[in-house]
Amino acid sequence: MKNFSYQNPTQIEFGRGTIQSLSGLLPEDARVLLLYGGGSIKKNGVYDQVKTALAIPAPIVTEMSGIEPNPEYETCLKALDLIEEHNLNFILSVGGGSVLDAAKFIAAAAWARGNGTAMTEPWDLITGQAPIEGALPVGAVLTLPATGSEMNTNSVISRREIGQKIGFGSTHLYPRFSILDPETTFSLPLRQTANGIVDTFVHTTEQYLTQDVNTPIQDRWAEGILTTLIEVGPRCLKQPHAYQYRETLMWASTMALNGIIGVGTVQDWATHAIGHELTAMYGIDHGRTLAIVLPGLLSHEKQAKKDKLLMFARRVWGLSQGDETVLMDEAIGRMVLFFENLGVHTRLQEYHIPPSAPPLDECPGIIAEIFRKRGGKIGENQAIGPKEIEEILLSRL
Ligand code: NZQ
Ligand code: ZN
Repeated sequence: MKNFSYQNPTQIEFGRGTIQSLSGLLPEDARVLLLYGGGSIKKNGVYDQVKTALAIPAPIVTEMSGIEPNPEYETCLKALDLIEEHNLNFILSVGGGSVLDAAKFIAAAAWARGNGTAMTEPWDLITGQAPIEGALPVGAVLTLPATGSEMNTNSVISRREIGQKIGFGSTHLYPRFSILDPETTFSLPLRQTANGIVDTFVHTTEQYLTQDVNTPIQDRWAEGILTTLIEVGPRCLKQPHAYQYRETLMWASTMALNGIIGVGTVQDWATHAIGHELTAMYGIDHGRTLAIVLPGLLSHEKQAKKDKLLMFARRVWGLSQGDETVLMDEAIGRMVLFFENLGVHTRLQEYHIPPSAPPLDECPGIIAEIFRKRGGKIGENQAIGPKEIEEILLSRL
């Protein structure tokens, strides 16, 4: 096991009716920016629940809607202006991972502006050209289980004018609290539920399907999440109002990316890095890009990941027949079938490609070129460079 240091300060309020606890979780002097997305919270009653919970003791609240899926840098800048104008000191995210990621970036940028961090523009905090030395406190009411953002340090922001989507993180970005009421997820479209299941699955494999460095506890935790998703995911799609499935998926996604299953492990994250480029290029949902890339990446890296892929085959899929290559191929095949049965396609040609975007056959080369310019290699062994990325994507057309 690798040495590790782990501390997670986020308070979780989990279960039915927990939005009521909101006002007690806010600091007494909170002047709140209530941030949300395109309006799902107004349709499913979550907005009303939040407003009711905030009515006593009625902190100062300024609202901003319009955070888009794959949150946009320019939109976040508008929130920064609101914070300055109204002298706000707390950001409350109500929605999915995109709203929360936006809240985290806005929190870091507002702090940097207020404390004179040297930067040419807030984008520097995302690229790492300026350090994140603090952030306004953030709290969350989560309505979409997928990203784990509710209990982690990460955020992913897009800047469409330059075609970039970049993930970054800082311990300053842990939410102070996250309220997870599974009933808020009853209204999710099947597509978003399926995206969340796949995202959670791949967060787990990014930390599990690497090298065996003697992490048996973490491996069993990962297998627990994967086998639960395989069992409960399809049931939840069939019965979207079944609370027991919703609560299971919600806790699975938090546990998959709050750092706990990854302590002491060797981690990959190449599927995510390549997937972000597919979202930037074609606008494909995050979870779906992962379902496209992961089968290709695992097949390409079969030898480097052999021990863990065999563990995955035997313990997650219950396979025992055939030689090692057969077992690994069969495990990858079962995973593809699982994604497809959730309605998440695993090949690029099955997605809508906007007419203004590059044709599919050019995509592997273009994305490889982006990584070539960026320099360095990705994956747990830093072995996946432009050539490998092109090969992986060519195998997924
Ligand atoms: O905008 P509204 O109207 O709220 O609608 C949203 C949005 O259209 C809708 N939605 C959310 N909750 C709903 C609902 N509709 C009905 N009922 C509800 N209860 O769902 C749509 C998608 O929401 P979004 O927040 O974009 O989805 P998700 O939570 O999957 O977040 C995706 C973003 O998170 C990033 C992704 O790259 C992507 O930008 N990630 C963040 C990570 C992190 N912070 O740790 C890690 C992940 O790997 C991921 O990269
Ligand atoms: Zn993800």
